[in-house]
Amino acid sequence: MSIENRPRVAVRAKISSLGTYVPPRLLTNADLEKMVDTNDEWIIERTGIRTRHLVDKGVASSDLAVAAAKACLEKRGIAPTEIEVIIVATVTPDMMFPATACLVQEKLGAVGAWGFDLSAACSGFLYALQVGAKLVESGAHSKVLVIGADVMSSILDYTDRSTCILFGDGAGAVLLEPCEEGETGLADFIHEIDGSGACSLYMPGGGSLNPTSAETVAKNMHVVHQAGGAVFKVAVRKMAELSETLLRRNQLTAADVDCFIPHQANKRIILATAERLGMPEERVIINIDRYGNTTAATIPLAMETAVEEGRLKKGDTVLLASFGGGFTVGATLLRWEI
Ligand code: COA
Repeated sequence: MSIENRPRVAVRAKISSLGTYVPPRLLTNADLEKMVDTNDEWIIERTGIRTRHLVDKGVASSDLAVAAAKACLEKRGIAPTEIEVIIVATVTPDMMFPATACLVQEKLGAVGAWGFDLSAACSGFLYALQVGAKLVESGAHSKVLVIGADVMSSILDYTDRSTCILFGDGAGAVLLEPCEEGETGLADFIHEIDGSGACSLYMPGGGSLNPTSAETVAKNMHVVHQAGGAVFKVAVRKMAELSETLLRRNQLTAADVDCFIPHQANKRIILATAERLGMPEERVIINIDRYGNTTAATIPLAMETAVEEGRLKKGDTVLLASFGGGFTVGATLLRWEI
C-alpha cells in the first residue's frame, strides 16, 4: 500500500497555497549577549539558532497571521471573501478572548467566514491542518484557511537565558481545498497528547487557575517556564516514534519520504529525530538558524524555506512532525500538490 491507497473519503483535502510572514526586526545572538549571560558560540552549538525576528510594540499575532494569510491568498489568486473557515493555531492570542480568528477575519475582510483558535503549542499547526482537512473531506467546506501564528516575545522573560534565546515571532498560512482528480493531498496523520508533561513547558499565570494579579506578576508567572532537558528527550523520542508508526502503517520507510519537515525547536532535536528515523540530512528541512522556534509558525515557515530552496516540489511525499507544550505530538503524511 502507498499513500494513494489510504481508505477513501468522499473528497480529499490538499494544501493549495502557502504564505508566510516574519516581522522585520532581528534579535541576534550578539544582541542577547548584551541582555543575559550567554554567548553566540553556546547558542549556536546547543540550539543552532543565529537570529530570530521579533515584533515591535503594538504588533500582535493577528497582524502576523493576516500578513501570512494575504500572501497565501494572493498566490492562489482568490479574494478573502471566498474563505469559508479560518483556524488560527496560537498560544499567544491577541487577547484571552475574542478568538484571534475573529480579529483575523475582520482585518482580512473575510466576510462570511466562521472560525476559531486552536491551542496546541508547537503542534498547533499540525492539529489545525488536520481539523481543516476534515472540514474539507466531509464536504462541508471547500476553502479553509489554516494559520499558525505566534508572538512568543510577548511571553518570554528576557532575563532567563535558558528560554529567551530559543524563540522568535512569525506566522504561516495554508489554504486547504478539495483535491483534483489524481491528487493525493493530505494522506494520513497520528496525533497524541500527554498532559503528564503539562508543567514541563507552560505559562502558569493569566488563566482561570491563576488569574492575573499583582502576586502572579511578582511571581513571574506570565512567561514561559520550561524544563529544557526533559522536553528535549521526550521531543526526540515521541516525534520519531509517531513518525515511524505513521510511515509503517502506510508501508513506507524514510527512503520513500522526499522531504521531512519537522517542528523547529532545536537543531539537535531535529538531527537526533532524523537519525532515529534513518532520514538522510539532505531531505531534512532546517531553518531554525534564521527564525528560532516560532511555535505554531515553524512548519509553514519551513515549508516556505523548502520551496525556496527547490527541495519541495509538486508530487513530493512529505512527512511533517511536531512536538510541543502539553505535551502535544503530531505526525502528518501528505503529497505536495502545488
Ligand atoms: N547560554 C549559556 N549557558 C546556558 C544558557 C545560555 N543561553 N542556557 C543554559 N545555559 C547553561 C545552564 O545554566 C547549564 O549550566 P550549569 O551546568 O552550570 O547549570 C548549562 O548551560 C547546561 O544546561 P542544559 O540545560 O543542560 O543545556 P542543554 O544542552 O540541555 O541546552 C536547551 C538547553 C534549553 C537549549 C535544551 O535543553 C533544549 O533545547 N531543550 C528543549 C527546549 C525546546 O525545544 N522547547 C520547545 C519545545 S517545542
